Amino acid sequence: MKEEQLRSSNWFGRSGKDGFIYRSWMKNSGIPDHEFKKPVIGICNTWSELTPCNAHFRELAASVKRGVLEAGGLPLEFPVMSLGETLMKPTAMLFRNLASMDVEESIRANPLDGVVLLCGCDKTTPSLLMGACSVNLPTLIVSGGPMLTGKYKGNNIGTSDVWRLAAGLETGAVNEAQLNDMEGALCRSQGHCAVMGTASTMACMVEALGLSLPGNAAIPAVDARRKVLAQYSGSRIVEMVQEQLCLSDILTRQAFENAIITNAAIGGSTNFVIHLLAIAGRIGVPLHLQDFDALSKNIPLLVNLQPSGAFFMEDLYYAGGLPAVLKELEGLLHADALTVNGKTIGENNRNAGCYNREVIATAAAPVNTATGLAVLKGNICPDGAVIKPSAASAHLMQHTGPALVFESIDDYKARINDDDLEVDANTILVLKNVGPKGYPGMPEVGNMTLPKKLLQQGITDMVRISDGRMSGTGFGTVILHVSPEAALGGNFSVLQTGDMISLDVERRTLDVQLSEEELARRRNAWQPPPPPASRGYVQLYTQRVLQAHLGADLDFLTGSSGAEVSKDSH
Ligand code: FES
Repeated sequence: MKEEQLRSSNWFGRSGKDGFIYRSWMKNSGIPDHEFKKPVIGICNTWSELTPCNAHFRELAASVKRGVLEAGGLPLEFPVMSLGETLMKPTAMLFRNLASMDVEESIRANPLDGVVLLCGCDKTTPSLLMGACSVNLPTLIVSGGPMLTGKYKGNNIGTSDVWRLAAGLETGAVNEAQLNDMEGALCRSQGHCAVMGTASTMACMVEALGLSLPGNAAIPAVDARRKVLAQYSGSRIVEMVQEQLCLSDILTRQAFENAIITNAAIGGSTNFVIHLLAIAGRIGVPLHLQDFDALSKNIPLLVNLQPSGAFFMEDLYYAGGLPAVLKELEGLLHADALTVNGKTIGENNRNAGCYNREVIATAAAPVNTATGLAVLKGNICPDGAVIKPSAASAHLMQHTGPALVFESIDDYKARINDDDLEVDANTILVLKNVGPKGYPGMPEVGNMTLPKKLLQQGITDMVRISDGRMSGTGFGTVILHVSPEAALGGNFSVLQTGDMISLDVERRTLDVQLSEEELARRRNAWQPPPPPASRGYVQLYTQRVLQAHLGADLDFLTGSSGAEVSKDSH
C-alpha cells in the first residue's frame, strides 16, 4: 500500500499549516519524519489500576509495540475508559455502552490505519469491539489472559467459589477470617477470572469470531507466551492494514454462528448473548435471540471448566487451548470463515492437538449433552429469557411452583433471611427491577443466594427468575434477561407472590398460570417507577437503552458511522 493511501496520510501527509500542526506536536516524543509515512497502529489500552484484571496491560502493549515496529508500522498507544467488574458501582454493565462510545470516537477522530484492542475484564472486550465495529478499520484483539488457578490449603479455588463461600457464610460453614485468608489465594497472579466466566467467554468469543491470532483465548496472563502472541499480533496488524482486511470482512454471519456454536461447547457465560447481539448490531449482521438456541441446541459440551465443570483456564491452555476445541468442532463450524491472520478458522485449527481429554472431551464422549443457552418464551417473557442448562440442576428443568416475588434488590436483601418468610425448595424466587432500565444497568444479581433457612437444610438450588444478568462464574437454575423487563410494565412487572409459575426447559416455556384477563387487569393498574436519574449519562442510558433481547445497546449506537471524518480541526 502506498503511503498516500493510508488513512493517516490525511493527517501526517499534509503540507502547510495543517501538516505542521499534525506532525509538530507528535515530534515532542522524538518521532522522526520518516515514521509519519508508516502505517499508524493504535493500541487501544484498557489498562487501569481500577481494573485489576487489566493491570498488566502496559507490559502487553509494549509487546504489541515491538511487533508493530518490527513490521514497519508506527505504534501509538491510547487509553480508553476501563471497566473494572469488581469495583464499579452500581454495575460495570451500565457503562459498557459509554466505553464503546469512547472507543469509537477515539479511533475515528485520530490518524489511525489499524487498531489492536487490549481486552481483559468482562466488559472491556464487548465495549472495545462494539466501538471498533462502528468504525470498521483493520482491527485485531489481544486478550489479557486468565489468572493462574487459585490455590488454597491444597485445593484449587476460583471465582465460582465466591458463590459457594457466600452460601457458606450464611450457614456458618465459613467465617470472615477464613474468607479474608482466601482473598489472596484466589487472585494470586495477574489476569482475569480463571474460570469460564464472562472474561474467558469473551476471549473465546473473539478467537471463534476470527478476531485474534489462534490460541489467544487461554494463554495465562503471566505465561511468557502471551507476550509472544502480543508481539505477533503487533506485526500482523501492520500486514492487515496493507491488505485492508477490515472487521466487516471477518465478522460475517458465519463468524457469528461459529462463535455461538463454540460458546455452547465451552459452557460459556450467559452474558455472551447480550454482548454478541450488541456487536452484531454494530457491524450490521442480522442476529436474533432465537439464533442462540437454534444454533447451540445439539452442540456437545466439550470443555470441563468451572462453573459448568471442574477445571480452570490454565488447564484449558495446557490441554491444547481453544484450538483443540475448535478442531473437535470442525464438522459443526463454518470452516471457511476468514480470520485476522488471513487464514480460515479451519486452516488455523485443523492440526491442533489435545493433551488432556479430562479437560477437553471429544464430541463422541462429551462432558455433557445439555449445553448452550436455552431461550425461553411464555407469558412472563414474550420477548425471551435465557437459561444455561449446563449450569442448572437437572431435577429443576421441568418445575412448577409458587412465586416468591421481590420488587427490587433492596426488597430481596431486606427479606430473604426473614425467619417468617414462606419459602421451601419448590418456591420460585422472582426478582424484579434489575433490568437495563429498571436498575439501571442490568447488574449480575440473578443468581440470588438462597434463603439461609433453606441453605441450612442442605438445599443448594432453586428456580430463580429475574430481568437481570448473572456473573459468568455463577451457576444454578437461574432464568435471566426476562424481556420485557419489569420497569416496562409487562406481565413480568405484575407477578405476585403465590402466583404459580411453570418452567419447562425442554419445551422452552416459562409461564405464569393466570388468565389473560387477570394479567390485563394487573397491567392496567401498574404504576411505572420514577426515573432513576435526572441528568448525565445515566439519564441518557435509561431513556435510550434497548431491551436485553436486542443486546442492551443504546438505540442510536446500533450500526456504523465508518472511518470517514468529513471536517478538519484547523
Ligand atoms: Fe475481571 Fe472477573 S472480575 S474478569
